[in-house]
Amino acid sequence: MGRRKGPGPPSRLVTVDTVRHHPKVAAFVEAADRHLAAIGYTEHGQRHSTLVSRIAFNVMTRLGFAQREAELAAVAGFTHDIGNVVGREGHALVGAVLMAPILDELGMPPEETAEVLGAIGNHEETHGHPVNPVSAALILADKTDVHRSRVRNRDPATFDIHDRVNYAVVRSFLNVDGPSRTITLDLTIELEVTPVLDYFEIFLQRMIMCRRAAEFLDCRFHIVINGARLL
Ligand SMILES: [Fe+2]
Ligand SMILES: [Fe+2]
Repeated sequence: MGRRKGPGPPSRLVTVDTVRHHPKVAAFVEAADRHLAAIGYTEHGQRHSTLVSRIAFNVMTRLGFAQREAELAAVAGFTHDIGNVVGREGHALVGAVLMAPILDELGMPPEETAEVLGAIGNHEETHGHPVNPVSAALILADKTDVHRSRVRNRDPATFDIHDRVNYAVVRSFLNVDGPSRTITLDLTIELEVTPVLDYFEIFLQRMIMCRRAAEFLDCRFHIVINGARLL
């Protein structure tokens, strides 16, 4: 518990549990996912938000960051795609702007809010960069969430390349090894669904971003697909 100078409520150690149950956060995450469903995007709702939140938290703790820093990564992870409630284009920047008053209302100290906002605003490969450790952990957690369970389209005949690549991934695990400072994305892909090349066609930009995020955390980034190390 801290005490904030000036107007506003006293600052608190806001947890991801508090944030996810805020009525606006809960409603916006749900609506963002519905809006993306309407334009044919893969799942970006509770499943993706919760998973990214947990993985970002784990990346931080496994690399020896303080619990509180890890909690901020969890908050950024849960809320990073909330800007999709307004629109897909620029959703990272919009999401940060939406979250600022909510985190303030919950009593998060401004320095912590700043870290979370920088992470949310920088999570997309089009214009994002790892700007702080929380942001680097969020990039790694978000960009490596590729999995069959994200595909909403039930008709394989009409799959686009994003559906195909996600559908092909039956197992996905981000292995963070603190002592050796290596982060490895370990994927199992059904090659009859999509060739490995399709994966790289879609995900090359994301994997470059992951490598930069890993380097920011003083780690090396590897990709293993079906047991073979490709990077
Ligand atoms: Fe996003
Ligand atoms: Fe995301």
